[in-house]
Amino acid sequence: MGLRESFRAGLARQLGHPSGLRGRIVGTMLNRGNREVVTAAVAALGLEGGETALDIGFGGGLGLALLLRSAGTVHGAEISTTMIERAHRTFRREIAANRLRLHEGSITALPLADASADAVITTNTVYFVDDLDTAFAEVARVLKPGGRFVLAIGDPETMSHAPLFTEHGFRIRPVADVEAALAHAGLDVRRHENLSAGQLGFHLLVTGK
Ligand SMILES: C[S@@+](CC[C@H](N)C(=O)[O-])C[C@H]1O[C@@H](n2cnc3c(N)ncnc32)[C@H](O)[C@@H]1O
Repeated sequence: MGLRESFRAGLARQLGHPSGLRGRIVGTMLNRGNREVVTAAVAALGLEGGETALDIGFGGGLGLALLLRSAGTVHGAEISTTMIERAHRTFRREIAANRLRLHEGSITALPLADASADAVITTNTVYFVDDLDTAFAEVARVLKPGGRFVLAIGDPETMSHAPLFTEHGFRIRPVADVEAALAHAGLDVRRHENLSAGQLGFHLLVTGK
């Protein structure tokens, strides 16, 4: 494997599961590179004060910081212990005040009670998830009736031209397939926004239960 290839393979691995020192650097990169899309996802929730929100696969933690501005209680779920430890350091005060609760766990088996969240986001995560039906059923389970779920993904057409994504196991799905999986889980797609942020276009799917 050439130098460029092995760099790409390492970066792809870190994007899917940041770990160690490189993972911490990737966390900072994610917060910078995904600022626009994460900000748009949080705004699309239309949070009201006192609500309970959840960010699944929060990576560098930007989504948690933005949710903490307008929600009452915020949960974060992650599979990466490096990202959880990073968030523990960044949000010491909010955790001590019991406004932020961090959980180790996957979108396919969320460590949260049924009907415990008013609003959920997940941005740039489903490329690492094989079983969308189980993932979205879990989101629907933890959402309260009337709750909102906002999902953001990179534009599949653009991603399908980038070796970083195509050669390293990212699951790139047509938006229509993602919408069908959402509908199957009982999550109605109420709005579909196209965002252009950085080199990737993004799709924001605003859904509700
Ligand atoms: C590309 S990063 C995106 C981080 C952040 N949401 C953003 O948009 O900047 C993907 C994150 O999802 C997490 N992740 C991957 N698979 C996951 C799963 N099955 N459940 C929860 N989180 C997952 C990774 O650990 C990583 O932190």
